[in-house]
Amino acid sequence: MTEAAIRPLTPQTPPFPADRTCPYHPPVDYEPLKNAGTMHRATLYDGREVWMVTGHAEARALLTDKRLSTDRRSPGFPVIAPRAENQAEVVIPLLGVDDPLHAAQRRMLIPSFTLKRVAAMRPQIQRIVDGLLDTMAEQGGPTDLVASFALPVPSMVICSLLGVPYDDHEFFEQCSRKLLTAETAGESKAARLDLEDYLLDLVVKKEAEPGEGLLDELIADRLAEMCIRDRVLMALLLLVAGHETTSNMIALGMYTLLEHPEELEALRADPSLIPGAVEELLRFLSIADGMVRVALEDIELDGGGVIKTGEGVILSTSMINRDAGTYEDPDGLDVRRSARHHVAFGFGVHQCLGQNLARAELEIALTALLTRFPTLRLAVPADQVPLKPGDTLQGLFAMPVTW
Ligand code: HEM
Repeated sequence: MTEAAIRPLTPQTPPFPADRTCPYHPPVDYEPLKNAGTMHRATLYDGREVWMVTGHAEARALLTDKRLSTDRRSPGFPVIAPRAENQAEVVIPLLGVDDPLHAAQRRMLIPSFTLKRVAAMRPQIQRIVDGLLDTMAEQGGPTDLVASFALPVPSMVICSLLGVPYDDHEFFEQCSRKLLTAETAGESKAARLDLEDYLLDLVVKKEAEPGEGLLDELIADRLAEMCIRDRVLMALLLLVAGHETTSNMIALGMYTLLEHPEELEALRADPSLIPGAVEELLRFLSIADGMVRVALEDIELDGGGVIKTGEGVILSTSMINRDAGTYEDPDGLDVRRSARHHVAFGFGVHQCLGQNLARAELEIALTALLTRFPTLRLAVPADQVPLKPGDTLQGLFAMPVTW
């Protein structure tokens, strides 16, 4: 490695992933790693040891190092939960392939996710958000903010973008949740196959009768050279990544603001702070906590040691985004800080394709919630809100609120 100095190794080997006890702080199991270097060893559920990266500079250097692979078929690729035991059976486009194939696939999609394309979607996102909040206001509290707002916003947006019928949302939301949280590989695979069948039908229909969405465009044009299975898997990735991630951020973001009333008041007093607050919440919450790679070659670490060929590497976003060498008072939420350079969306060639869209949705959703429901509060004690386990995207299963 050349770009970053690797500081000394630490002897602790925490379990990875661990559950959070507080929904907005990294797991307490990772505490011993704080201020104790930036490259560590961690133990996976199956007893295997992997590297765990917690340093900001080191993470950015490793995420741009071509000697690390994201291809689940690469020898030694770490399995971080039982549900992923058969992960090598399926090659997920983009996220699961290395360059040059990755670059070719990404080029097909980039035009649909530019700032300009997302800016053109803002009025529609606003309409979706306003419509859901109208319904919430009519029905009155208490309500579950996840079910009535945080999940439908990104779900409706991604359906409209892709050209997937929102009427099918209960089916694909349930499959996505099972895919990402099932306890066993069998259950997770069954959910994926259900989604694949559903999307295969949709892709075939669209081939016969093209509609308006991105999937239609891609089928007709830029995805033309992909085989049907890859088109289906690409659709699956976009559909799942497009709603599961952002919904967690909306609910957990609002929960975190309610737990930090001074920051919340600052946003209410000056909504122009919201775009910066979204970056800070992305940094602070790091809901996608753990990018997984394997070394294709030996990688010498400047601070001593070698990541050997076939060794797994986990990049913990929650720890990297709280590196005290990069952020002052990293464990404090400060909506006025410049949280730039966080790695909540990853870094390097696999950096989140949907980040412009996610930012727009978060800005519009949080601004509208704060403006229309100034007395919004939790309807149960904060410690009774059910948290998702550590081995999936971080967030809340439900968030009872009233106003
Ligand atoms: C707040 C919301 C989101 C967060 C925190 C998030 C996080 C991430 C992260 C960390 C990665 C990199 C994974 C890695 O390097 O291993 C990623 C990749 C990706 N994300 Fe997102 N994401 C979000 C929203 C979205 C949305 C709305 C979409 C829309 C379709 C999306 C689509 C993707 C895709 C396709 C990739 C793979 C990119 C590639 O491999 O080239 N994400 N995301």
